[in-house]
This record gives sequence, C-alpha cells and structure tokens, in this order.
Amino acid sequence: MHTATITSSQQAIELEDKYGAHNYHPLPVVLTRGEGVHLWDLEGKHYYDFLSAYSAVNQGHCHPKIINALIDQAQQLTLTSRAFYNDKLGIAEKYIAEYFGYDKVLMMNSGAEAVETALKLARKWGYMQKGLAPNTAEIIVAEHNFHGRTTGIISFSTDPDSTKGFGPYMPGYKVVPYDDLESLAEALKNPHVCAFMVEPIQGEAGVYVPSEGYLSKAKALCEQHNVLFIADEIQTGVGRTGQLLATCYEAVKADILILGKALSGGVLPVSAALCNDEIMLCIKPGEHGSTFGGNPLACAVAMAALQVIEDENLTENARIMGEIFRERMRRIQKNHPELVTTVRGKGLLNAVIIKPTADGRTAWDVCIALKENGLLAKPTHGDIIRFAPPLVITEEQLHECCDIIENTMLQFSSPVEAPEELD
Ligand SMILES: Cc1ncc(COP(=O)(O)O)c(C=O)c1O
Repeated sequence: MHTATITSSQQAIELEDKYGAHNYHPLPVVLTRGEGVHLWDLEGKHYYDFLSAYSAVNQGHCHPKIINALIDQAQQLTLTSRAFYNDKLGIAEKYIAEYFGYDKVLMMNSGAEAVETALKLARKWGYMQKGLAPNTAEIIVAEHNFHGRTTGIISFSTDPDSTKGFGPYMPGYKVVPYDDLESLAEALKNPHVCAFMVEPIQGEAGVYVPSEGYLSKAKALCEQHNVLFIADEIQTGVGRTGQLLATCYEAVKADILILGKALSGGVLPVSAALCNDEIMLCIKPGEHGSTFGGNPLACAVAMAALQVIEDENLTENARIMGEIFRERMRRIQKNHPELVTTVRGKGLLNAVIIKPTADGRTAWDVCIALKENGLLAKPTHGDIIRFAPPLVITEEQLHECCDIIENTMLQFSSPVEAPEELD
C-alpha cells in the first residue's frame, strides 16, 4: 500500500533491502529530516552531515530560498520539454553562463549526463573544428577517475567494481596516470586526440589533490596540441573546495566545464556542460538532449542555489572552515599516527586515511562509531573517510564536529605517547 508509513529504522532498512536493488551499501541510518548541516533519523536522533550527499548539498539541507524557488515554480510550470520555449530556460542559461564566464550552457539532469554531453561536444568539435577523420576521435582521461555510471563512462574507468561484468567497453579513450604531466604529454602526441578530461581533485578515488601546477601545465599542454581541456567539477565545483571552481586555484579556465550536484543545492538533479560558442554550436538541433534537461523547475532551483552561494559567501566559508578542519585533523594524526596516516583535501572536501586497528577494525567501523556519536560520514576504498559538510557550517559547529571525530578516534586508538593538550 503506497500510503504505508515507516515507523522504525529497522523497518525502512528491511523494505529497501527486500524491494530495492542492492547497488549501494548504506550506513545503517534512516534519515527523515534535514536543515542546514543537521539531519535527524526516524527515532529523532540528531546528526551532523559530513557527506552532503557527495557534495550536492553545499548550501545546506532544505535551504529556504531554494525551497521557496522550487515551490513558487512548481505552482507555475514544471516541464514543457524542449519542444517549446519556456520563460525560465533563457534566464537561467544567461545566469549560469555569466556566473561561470562562458558563452553558453547545456543543461541536463544527472552528473553522468553532463559528462556524456561534454564528451559528445568534444568529439563533435574534433570532427568539425579540428578536422579529425570520422570516428577517429580519442579522449584522454586519468587513472582512478570517477565520472559516472553510464556504459560509455565506465568504458574508461579503472575501478573493477565499476567495469567488471559490464563490457563490452566503448573505444576511443586513453587512460594516463593522474597528476603525471609526462604521460599526458606523451599521450597528447596522438593527433587523433580531441580532449583531455580530468577531475581537478579526484573525489571518489579518495580526495586526491594533484601537485600544484598540474592543472595549469596540463591546460597549457592541451593548448599546444589544440586539444580541449574538460574539467569535471561535478564534485569540486560550486564553492566546495574554497574557490568557486577548483580549477580557479590555478587560474585555469576549462574549455568545457561540467557541473552537477550542488548546482541545485541537492534539491533536484540539475547538471550542465558549459563552453564557448565555437564548441557549443557544433551540436545542432536533434543531435543531443533530454526530456527533463533545463526544465523550468530545474532552472528556478539552480538560479536560487547559485545565488545562495554568492549571498552567503559560502565559497569563502569553505576555504576558512577547511583550513580549521585540516588543522584539527592533523593534530589528531600527530597524536594517533597508528590510526590516522594521512589528512588531505581543499576547502571542505577532505579525506582522512585510517589504518586498520590491530583487532581488524576499519574505516567502516570508525564511521559506524561516528554515527553513534552524531556525525555522518562514509568510508570509501576501505580505508579512506571523506569529510565534506555543507558549506554553511559555522566555526562553532565545526569545532563541535571535530571534537566528535577526535573523541571517536580515541575509541579506536591507543596513543603512542601522551596526547597533546588541545585548546
Ligand atoms: C566528479 C564526478 N563526476 C561525475 C559524477 C556522476 O554524477 P551523478 O552521480 O550525478 O551521475 C560524480 C558523482 O559522484 C562525480 O563525483
């Protein structure tokens, strides 16, 4: 019966397990309400959100300005398809294009769709502008990339969980090691290459921050070879790393910019590929699209979500809070090197690497304990915990959360020497 209500977390978990696909392994917590950095489960327990739905909820849960934009637009018009014009799309396109400094934007829904859009734009540009022979275009990507889950995108994934059992794979991609300019330079010698696509920080791989200068030098190499530089900023964009885009740290302007997640503040699936006319106009009517792409609801929500980032200085807050967070984590690492081996990240996209304890407890167990102590974070690749709270977090909240993390780590650690006094 669709009106059935869930009365306990256990019941919700059992329902998902019985009727849903087993394509995720969630932490055992059932959330029912969110506000800002706060989440509550069915039993009324409060948590701090330190995942932000994989960096989609940068503006905080249920931000009133975004929700009001959603409600107002939902009462007016939600979807026309692109068979007709509507009175929101042009305004949103202008707003988003100018916000990020591009001529044009092509709106889609999920991140993977925007990645596919960028790849199609690059190939089309390769044939129409670079003069490649039909069906010969190659795109360079980085090892340990994560760009989504479509059959096209997983064709160049190097993660066996993403690829195994899903072949055959699409040709036309060359994988080079991340953060390795020599390998990139070598691959760029292939005259069929039309684009290099990269995450400015590899999020899903475990928040790998490349060496300083990697992005700007990679961009310069691409320019030398008349190859497009595509930045997948789906996870790193919209203020997350303490700059509007992570590529801003190196003053790199991607030829094609891919956005998703926080473009809607986590309210709706809204994604986009942005570029200048020379690239965007390679795609003609009928060659690409999506029924829901750029729908009026998505337009209203995306504009409100971007406005909130600007109005509330969330990018600056991410930068400052990120520095405080890493400083606190590094102190934990200093006092407990037998448990915390690495702290890395930029802005509020951070990762801590956990060494399994002598009795075999792992990052998963640390996340379970964090949950018990009121903070939600998710382990990745067995030993990495990503910490990425909404960018609206205040300094006071951040310190409270760092205290929770520190106290939780203490449950797992036997200090090698007397811990430092923390002020
Ligand atoms: C860098 C990057 N690209 C693409 C995607 C795929 O986005 P979506 O899950 O919305 O398809 C993700 C999702 O985590 C991502 O982090």
